[in-house]
Formats: sequence, C-alpha cells, structure tokens
Amino acid sequence: MNPSADVLALASVDVDLKPIPVGSGITVLWRGKPIFVRHRTAQEIKAAEDVKLASLIQPQPDADRVKPGHAAWIVLVGVCTHLGCVPLGQKATDPRGEWGGWFCPCHGSVYDTSGRIRKGPAPKNLHLPPYTFVDETLIRIG
Ligand code: FES
Repeated sequence: MNPSADVLALASVDVDLKPIPVGSGITVLWRGKPIFVRHRTAQEIKAAEDVKLASLIQPQPDADRVKPGHAAWIVLVGVCTHLGCVPLGQKATDPRGEWGGWFCPCHGSVYDTSGRIRKGPAPKNLHLPPYTFVDETLIRIG
C-alpha cells in the first residue's frame, strides 16, 4: 500500500533559508514537533565552537551538530529534554539565557548556541532532526 500524498508531505518538510536573517530563527512543524532553524551570527558560531567540552553536561562538539560547511545554520528539535516544553530563543527579542541560545522558562533550563544544555534540570542537549541541504538556501527535514 502506498502512502497518500498528505502522508508523504508530512514525512519531510522543505525550509527556504533565504528569508531568515542572521541572528533570527524560524520554527516549522515536522511530524508534529517544532523544529528550530536558526541562522547564527559569527559570534554565536564562535561561542559554540570555542566552548571547553569538559564543561558541558553532555559533551558534544559543535561540528557534530551542524552540517559541514554550514556552521551558520543550526537545526534542532525544539523540545526541552526535561519535560518537553518549547524553549524560547527563536526571536531575537526572546530571552535566550546566559549562553545566548535558548531558555526554557518552565524550570529554567538554559541551552547554548549549539542547543547544548548548559544549566538547569534538562539532562540532554536539544535533539537533532534528520535533514539535508538540498542546495545552499534550502534544507529538507526528514
Ligand atoms: Fe524545560 Fe522543564 S521542560 S526546563
């Protein structure tokens, strides 16, 4: 049995990166989950790359969380790994916590610009959805 067109449409979501200015992000829904797509500033990339891995709760280099050659883009499942709230930080005007990434106000978890947990009760980094760059300005999630 072949999946219907609407099921296929949900299986992957294309995101045009062109309208997302540096420093901002957008949230898209993929399989019922919010996916954060954020266009990082040079400063945010550097902060994510320079962190000492030993200081992290779940050590993971930034390079393992972005696609090679595309460090400006971080793509994350926008669900706090504590109890599943949606953290703030997608808008430049949102509170982003002391590492400039995302802040979950539910119980105070703070994520850095790589989506790694830095403080608070969340035990893990924000998860990474499967995605690929179709070309320089288009990603396909799923
Ligand atoms: Fe995010 Fe509790 S759900 S800190």
